[in-house]
Amino acid sequence: MATPTLDKADSAGQPEAGFADTPYITATFRIRRFNPEVSADAVWEDFQLEIDPKERVLDALHKIKWDQDGTLTFRRSCAHGICGSDAMRINGKNRLACKTLIKDINPEKPITVEAIKGLTVLKDLVVDMDPFFQAYRDVMPFLITKDTNEPTRERLQSAEDRERFDDTTKCILCAACTSSCPVFWNDGQYFGPAAIVNAHRFIFDSRDEAGEQRLEILNDKDGVWRCRTTFNCTDACPRGIEVTKAIQEVKRALITRRF
Ligand code: SF4
Ligand code: FES
Repeated sequence: MATPTLDKADSAGQPEAGFADTPYITATFRIRRFNPEVSADAVWEDFQLEIDPKERVLDALHKIKWDQDGTLTFRRSCAHGICGSDAMRINGKNRLACKTLIKDINPEKPITVEAIKGLTVLKDLVVDMDPFFQAYRDVMPFLITKDTNEPTRERLQSAEDRERFDDTTKCILCAACTSSCPVFWNDGQYFGPAAIVNAHRFIFDSRDEAGEQRLEILNDKDGVWRCRTTFNCTDACPRGIEVTKAIQEVKRALITRRF
């Protein structure tokens, strides 16, 4: 199949010459199906559809669900990379379906779509997120201060202090990092990158006063020391967060007790 030509809109928002002729392609989506009410085994199932390669994998899943098989089950909400609900393994890599353009994932070959790894699959592309969110809750992802009086104005912070944890504020809790981590695949007991990222966000916040507590939580046998620095998490993060760097900073804070 010829590689589709992809045209851009001009500055006035009008399609450039050739845009209208952009060929739809016939793409094959090979989806890992699992329905515990039907079988204990998961199976791959192929779906073919005519689609504009500039559309996203989420659009393809919608088309399959609406036109071919209404039982296809997946999560999604915002469709714009904000809610974090549609992380899945696409061509063997964790990605958000709503942020993955079909043209970017070699649509000339079957595109594989399966549930993220390390969490129990409930149906098709939907996994049980409870262990993931429990680890998130365990690091106390909220501001804690010792001051029992309500402040009468906002808690001030310098731009430099705010910058210290800026990267880790971008997390959308999609689980792409945690479910790409081989340590997490092994036994699922490891807190996982996402929980550490969200602990980092508060440990390095100059307004927070529970950093020591969070560090002790992550000093656990299933905490930061289990990280093997494979960088899978950083590669998987759709928000571009330097996840491995954040984990390293938490490890360093545990050793130096400076944060
Ligand atoms: S750190 Fe990145 S990959 Fe991990 S949960 Fe947050 S947004 Fe998703
Ligand atoms: S549907 Fe919300 S991030 Fe993709």
